[in-house]
Amino acid sequence: MDNILKTKKNISGLSGEITIPPDKSISHRALIFGALTKGIVEIKNLSLGEDCLATLKILENLGVKYKFISERDLILDSSNGFSIPKVALDCGNSGTTTRLLMGFLAGQNFDCELFGDESLSKRPMKRVIEPLTKMGAEINSNDFKMPIKIKGKELNAIEYHTPIASAQVKSCLMLAGLNALGKTKIYEKTLSRNHSEIMLEYLGAKIKTGIENGEFFTEIEKSNLIPKSLGVVGDISSASFFMVAAAITPNSHIIIKNVGINPTRTGILDIFKQAEINFNLLNQKTVCNELCADIEVKYTPNIKPFVIQGEIIPRLIDEIPILAVLATQAQGKTIVKDAQDLRNKESDRIKTIVEAFNELGIEIKENQDGFEIIGKKEISKSVSLKTYLDHRLAMSYYVMSLINQEQMEIKGFDCINTSFPEFMKLMEELI
Ligand code: S3P
Repeated sequence: MDNILKTKKNISGLSGEITIPPDKSISHRALIFGALTKGIVEIKNLSLGEDCLATLKILENLGVKYKFISERDLILDSSNGFSIPKVALDCGNSGTTTRLLMGFLAGQNFDCELFGDESLSKRPMKRVIEPLTKMGAEINSNDFKMPIKIKGKELNAIEYHTPIASAQVKSCLMLAGLNALGKTKIYEKTLSRNHSEIMLEYLGAKIKTGIENGEFFTEIEKSNLIPKSLGVVGDISSASFFMVAAAITPNSHIIIKNVGINPTRTGILDIFKQAEINFNLLNQKTVCNELCADIEVKYTPNIKPFVIQGEIIPRLIDEIPILAVLATQAQGKTIVKDAQDLRNKESDRIKTIVEAFNELGIEIKENQDGFEIIGKKEISKSVSLKTYLDHRLAMSYYVMSLINQEQMEIKGFDCINTSFPEFMKLMEELI
């Protein structure tokens, strides 16, 4: 928490080409599903953020072997199966590690304990404990928070309608369903990111997806996964910081290469269209059935205000902090609503964004399920902002500093390592 970044003043624009590091969500899944093949699998282009390394370390504690063959490529070997962990499993700052692995661990024939850092220990786990318990899991928690103790058992399939669209909940239940008796069927009102579905289908799982009575469903049953090599596309959530930075900083023109553009993640592109940002998608292709492209963004002087609400929320949930920065440069009132789950992220992102923007002198109104921002006032405040162990706040505040006339401080900036240790290096290449 003590690490403080002092930002630079008078940045004259971002220009050049960068390749964005691998997607965090897909990297977690490549590690977990790769291990579930109980074979030898090569994973190309893995995220080296602390969150994904926490998942890898836990798999190692469960007896999975691995070897990096180059900076981001590794061979995962789970051919000896899983073994009883000798230590409590450290999920660090990562909700994805916790919730996905709980689904897998609840159905094993051994017991284990999971814990996390100060931020993760405040986050709600009832959303996965409740349905897993319905499947027959035995889970003890600290009032539905970490630390969590799991007594491994054989699970039974359920049909479950998720109260919030959450890919972590859906994937947790898919992992439990992969080892349960019967067919597990998960319904969601709005489709959350579908990387688990895409990768499991690629690995030959017995899985069906579709729409029934207006709800999206995923049905899964016990399956033998085929050990196939897996590749990870670039992370649109990491790219979003550079996309907004280029859109709001005069004289900018950048190309971000190899960005995943799975439609369940591209809410930010819809908002860029609404805000009339000058951007293009180039060179589209697929990697392991995931779409990706290069994204070109140019400085846009007349940004339109925008509304974020309803079905788009799960498609841009992680981009709301950086889109709030974009809103400060739009001509008029931007509204974010239906986004109450922001309060359950690495920090309460509604409260923390409102606190920071108030300090910066930006007009912002807090609502229970979002906020409203009046944009286009010059930002000229020398402030010291807190990040509350929330990587996306830290990077959003850095982007804000590009248009702040005064130097600012970002406290606890090294929390960016949870998802994007390469952030400053890439930023320095462009400015
Ligand atoms: C993730 C899903 C999202 C997202 C998180 C990663 C995933 O969480 O906020 O950063 O990899 O499944 P929810 O599904 O809980 O909204």
